[in-house]
Amino acid sequence: MSYEVKNKQLLKWVEEVTQLCEPDNVYWCDGSQEEYDRLCNQLVQSGTFRKLNPEKRPNSYLAWSDPGDVARVEDRTFICSISKHDAGPTNNWVPPKEMKKTLTGLFKGSMKGRTMYVIPFSMGPLGSDIAKIGVEISDSAYVAVNMKIMTRMGKAVVDILGENGEFVPCLHSVGAPLAPGQKDVAWPCNKEKYIVHFPEERSIWSYGSGYGGNALLGKKCLALRIASKIANDEGWLAEHMLILGVESPEGEKTYVGAAFPSACGKTNFAMIVPPPAFREKGWKVTTIGDDIAWIKPNADGKYYAINPENGLFGVAPGTSAKSNPNAMASCAKNTIFTNVALTPDGDVWWEGMTDTPPAQLTDWQGNAWTPDCGRVAAHPNSRFTAPASQVPCIDPAWEDPKGVPMEAFIFGGRRSNVVPLIYQSFNWSYGVYLAATMGSETTAAAVGAIGNVRRDPFAMLPFTGYHMADYFAHWLQVGRSNPNPPRIFSVNWFRKDANGKFIWPGFGENMRVLKWIVERVHGRACATESPLGWMPRYEDIDWTGLDMSREKFSDMMSIDRDVWKEEIISHEELFVKLFDRLPKEFLHIRELILSGLWRSPEHWEQHIPTPDEDGYND
Ligand code: OXD
Ligand code: MN
Repeated sequence: MSYEVKNKQLLKWVEEVTQLCEPDNVYWCDGSQEEYDRLCNQLVQSGTFRKLNPEKRPNSYLAWSDPGDVARVEDRTFICSISKHDAGPTNNWVPPKEMKKTLTGLFKGSMKGRTMYVIPFSMGPLGSDIAKIGVEISDSAYVAVNMKIMTRMGKAVVDILGENGEFVPCLHSVGAPLAPGQKDVAWPCNKEKYIVHFPEERSIWSYGSGYGGNALLGKKCLALRIASKIANDEGWLAEHMLILGVESPEGEKTYVGAAFPSACGKTNFAMIVPPPAFREKGWKVTTIGDDIAWIKPNADGKYYAINPENGLFGVAPGTSAKSNPNAMASCAKNTIFTNVALTPDGDVWWEGMTDTPPAQLTDWQGNAWTPDCGRVAAHPNSRFTAPASQVPCIDPAWEDPKGVPMEAFIFGGRRSNVVPLIYQSFNWSYGVYLAATMGSETTAAAVGAIGNVRRDPFAMLPFTGYHMADYFAHWLQVGRSNPNPPRIFSVNWFRKDANGKFIWPGFGENMRVLKWIVERVHGRACATESPLGWMPRYEDIDWTGLDMSREKFSDMMSIDRDVWKEEIISHEELFVKLFDRLPKEFLHIRELILSGLWRSPEHWEQHIPTPDEDGYND
């Protein structure tokens, strides 16, 4: 190794893994730029990477994965707690001893013919009290270079660990040992995949996949599944949330967190560009993070959040100069693209990047592509890995080790009907209920059917490292122990009209909703009581520069009793599944929502008062 490692636990573990996996070489990553460039060159030589045209995308690379290794594999993801009940019915579970035996068998000799990379990393700013250290051992150089972007990685982390510091061991193998002289493939992986977490031991073993969410173990595995368990033990929150800051024309700064299921526009919302009329008035939005938030309630009654990541692992399709100019600027250089299409001049393209596709491309599987060929050019879950420091609207406090104070939590799913554009929960418990019962139409971020509504509580269903009902109780408890917790809101950008067209324009226009949220938080905006919570009236939203009729707004805000009856029955399905540990509050809140629905008109719409009633038109 090229630097001194004093941590005995780490040295011992690396030795054990070397014995087990039998790599040809062991390489300790130092995290330097020189190392990154060298490994990228090596990946170009081995055929995993293609260097993009430096004039178009300086210092950037493109990787095409095996077609069977393109997304997270939820059915192969396990929470192996000691007791099955602690994993809960929404997680796959195998007794830890049995799983260790299976994995030990699979990892035996799994790195033959390969280099084993030791990748020390910090989730959160180096040395911050909130940060956690992990060490990933992987036989994939693709993983090592992605980890350099996504985390603070290398020698500095080992220095912080010192002799006795604790770390989360994260073991990863693509599961494709090479026989002597055997030529490697561009994207080695194994049909058999295991993404396994041992929450009590705080360790992770991942086998068979090289894809981001399954292989970059600091992200979903450590920063969400393992961290959610640590947070539960220690009284804080590890969430699938973006964090953004809203600055008003008066210079008032408000930080909010927002949870959306994978591929529902978190990166876009995190980097939202306010509409021109708002920018002219002086509204600004800055980004702290686009995927994960670690939030700790403080003694002063505030909740401080950090983004534990150092980079973006963004969904490419749909990202454009129109939909997210900040993301486009973030991946303009120093970026690794996975499974997007290649242009003839050595740049990248994906569906939605431009209105008119290029006449010719090479698609993500390496085949010639033309606009009329009937196939997509980029995989729907293709990604860009880019440094967060390249985000033009990054918040000046994004690396502040103490975090930023959170004032609101927003929860949003992808629902073509049922859920209104925006409402505020009556109180913390109602808010926890709305987040817990959140539903969303499934996307390409995970393997499986697309477009079915599934309950995705807190957008954390695939990422909670323990019993989901214990997680709800934890949220209730966190709010209970604070007299002034952040306000909770529900949004739905995806409601469609009778013709199947999105009603809400979304993207930058979401700023109008965000402004109302910020003003509610500060006790300034008005709202009306609906069966679900507090809702803005038409006149409570700033429509400057957007043509939005009262009728259209009313359509997006409507609550149909019959549709909601069905919705609540499907909440019940989730509750029955989690019954043994479900917080009692939920049953009462469900009853209260039902009685609210029955008290109000069958089809609750925005009340449109006539000028005679309150003179609002004056
Ligand atoms: C992600 C995901 O990659 O949620 O962020 O799948
Ligand atoms: Mn995510």
